[in-house]
Amino acid sequence: MNEQQLAARVTAPAIALLPDDAPFSPDQRAWLNGFFAGLLTQLARQTAAVAPRLRLPVLYASQTGSAESLARKLAKEARSRGFDSQAQALGALSLEQIAKLEHALIIASTHGEGEPPDTASVFAMQLEAAQGTPLAGMKYAVLALGDRNYSSFCQFGRRLDERFDSLGAKRLIDRVEADNAVDEPFKQFRERLWPRLQHPAPMAAPQTQADEDDDGTKEVWTRQRPYPAPLRSRQRLSGPGSDKEVRHIVLSLSGSNLRYEPGDAIGVWPRNAPELVQQILTLCACPPDAAVQCDGATLALAEALASRREIAKLSIPTVIKFARLTADPELLALVRPESSKQLEKFLFGRDAADLLARGPDAFADPQSLIDLLPPLTPRLYSICSTLAAHSDEVHLTISVVRYLRDSRERGGVASTDVADRIGVGETIPVYVHRNTRFRLPGDPATPIIMIGPGTGIAPFRAFLHQRKALDLTGRTWLFFGDRRAHCDFLYREELETFLHDGTLSRLDVAFSRDQAQKNYVQHRMLEAGRELWSWIQDGAHIFVCGDATRMAKDVDAALQRILVEHGAMSEAAAQLELRIFGASGRYVRDVY
Ligand SMILES: Cc1cc2nc3c(=O)[nH]c(=O)nc-3n(C[C@H](O)[C@H](O)[C@H](O)COP(=O)(O)OP(=O)(O)OC[C@H]3O[C@@H](n4cnc5c(N)ncnc54)[C@H](O)[C@@H]3O)c2cc1C
Ligand SMILES: NC(=O)c1ccc[n+]([C@@H]2O[C@H](COP(=O)([O-])OP(=O)(O)OC[C@H]3O[C@@H](n4cnc5c(N)ncnc54)[C@H](OP(=O)(O)O)[C@@H]3O)[C@@H](O)[C@H]2O)c1
Ligand SMILES: Cc1cc2nc3c(=O)[nH]c(=O)nc-3n(C[C@H](O)[C@H](O)[C@H](O)COP(=O)(O)O)c2cc1C
Repeated sequence: MNEQQLAARVTAPAIALLPDDAPFSPDQRAWLNGFFAGLLTQLARQTAAVAPRLRLPVLYASQTGSAESLARKLAKEARSRGFDSQAQALGALSLEQIAKLEHALIIASTHGEGEPPDTASVFAMQLEAAQGTPLAGMKYAVLALGDRNYSSFCQFGRRLDERFDSLGAKRLIDRVEADNAVDEPFKQFRERLWPRLQHPAPMAAPQTQADEDDDGTKEVWTRQRPYPAPLRSRQRLSGPGSDKEVRHIVLSLSGSNLRYEPGDAIGVWPRNAPELVQQILTLCACPPDAAVQCDGATLALAEALASRREIAKLSIPTVIKFARLTADPELLALVRPESSKQLEKFLFGRDAADLLARGPDAFADPQSLIDLLPPLTPRLYSICSTLAAHSDEVHLTISVVRYLRDSRERGGVASTDVADRIGVGETIPVYVHRNTRFRLPGDPATPIIMIGPGTGIAPFRAFLHQRKALDLTGRTWLFFGDRRAHCDFLYREELETFLHDGTLSRLDVAFSRDQAQKNYVQHRMLEAGRELWSWIQDGAHIFVCGDATRMAKDVDAALQRILVEHGAMSEAAAQLELRIFGASGRYVRDVY
């Protein structure tokens, strides 16, 4: 009897299983028919449980955790639909291994300036070098994560899609691209995907280890349903004389059940400054209480501008839309592909009021104003505390964005919201943004090298508190830098205590403006090159956090130089070695 026949029997238990001439009484016949039907049901279940299910791996390339978290959700949904599915890092597979897969769903973000996440950079090199059609016979689909504020929007996801196609793989569906707000594109991707996959018999997914792992990500409070965390305190870290304003923020998690680990970030949903909202209303001569449709709800215009729309900074799509609607010749020239650098310059330091001032009449209709502006997105902040030491709290290190332009004081939406507008005791909506890559090594004896100038210190403060609270030994080395020692040495006392009690084995600092010549963390690293190389040979994990545009690149170049000078490698070998460290999780960057 085959599986279908078995299933038919199971769904039709009234069928008589005993021949009519079998020597049984009607009661015995009924009992025995019931007994055999029960046996068949059991057999059918066992057969279905061992029948091979379609393998549907979900491969992710992620730097700050979003693609990974979506991949886990997708794999879980695939399992509940009867597929054999697990989330796996793309960078952990070779092209040869991928070629052996029948199907692969890929979720990939883009970092740097159009680059792959660190964990996928070796894979990307292999993909570029491949020839012929090694992927013929496999089917795939790509969900690309990115941000339209970068001119190389979703570049890595796009490149993956192109290369898989040219190497012979077949697209299950067209690539879906997500711009910051991932929920809608993620939904679209799934809705298009499932009808294209041969549907296995629906069955309850067996409880696997991955399910248990997923329970870790099944949050009570999420990006869509953030926790209103009360602000417990807000201390200024930068001292008198500093030209920066860095705050140590403590939020209460008491009673929330929110859990996090050192290396994770907090997502903050801010509200825009009322003055900027008012300025836009005045410019466009719109009534604050006009009803508008916004993200599926009817809201008063002023509320929609305050809590749902990005107005403190400009995005590329907004400028393009505005230029087309108003036929502004200067902007039309700026949004041409060849002017991307000039457009980037134009965007920096301008907000929605600057844009609308160029043609407010076109947006006198409140709905058109809302439709022009992109949705407000949460901002991420690296967590600088650990539950092991700060049991019902989460701490953040926030550099407040303030600047003056055209005689108007301006500010970043989230950093000024936390610094100015939320009172102590008032709440701010937050959620935990997991970054499973940015973790202390499993073996506490593994040495760690932490490079974190400016606010990049945040996750390392969490690491050090964690190691102290858990009494972990093993060597730790921190490179910190900022402008001036007397006012910008963030967490100085704590770091010196860690150094004194041995939690921190070595601290090297670089203050850039205490002398005529710039003095940066990478200069300290190069000076200590021989010793750094010896730590690396001992298996040290290297962590970098902070500014992406300048610092992370220069630190990467310094590490390369150290491998060349002290590890006797060629430039190319040193570069590859670092990429391999990146793919294997020994060199981890959380840069922004
Ligand atoms: C994974 C991750 C971790 C992060 N961790 C931290 C952290 O620990 N601490 C931290 O402080 N930040 C951190 N950030 C950065 C943080 O998320 C925000 O981007 C930052 O605080 C600015 O947000 P905002 O809402 O205040 O400003 P926005 O409203 O986003 O405004 C920023 C805009 O202001 C303008 N601007 C900024 N500075 C100037 C200037 N000097 N002159 C003119 N215009 C200017 C530019 O147009 C810029 O695009 C992290 C980012 C990521 C992705
Ligand atoms: N895009 C920009 O122009 C810009 C400018 C400042 C900050 N930011 C952003 O603001 C946020 C917070 O900044 P932050 O407070 O953490 O500090 P930060 O601006 O990153 O500065 C910390 C320290 O790093 C130094 N630094 C500058 N360039 C460097 C390089 N190439 N290599 C190594 N160190 C370098 C700074 O020196 P000096 O300042 O003396 O050069 C300072 O001493 C980050 O997101 C950062 O990216 C952006
Ligand atoms: C430092 C930095 C650089 C980025 N560079 C790009 C880029 O070049 N192109 C792009 O489309 N998105 C870029 N992004 C946006 C990310 O791709 C986007 O936030 C994505 O959701 C992150 O996914 P992940 O957490 O899985 O890495 C960048 C983000 C950061 C923090």
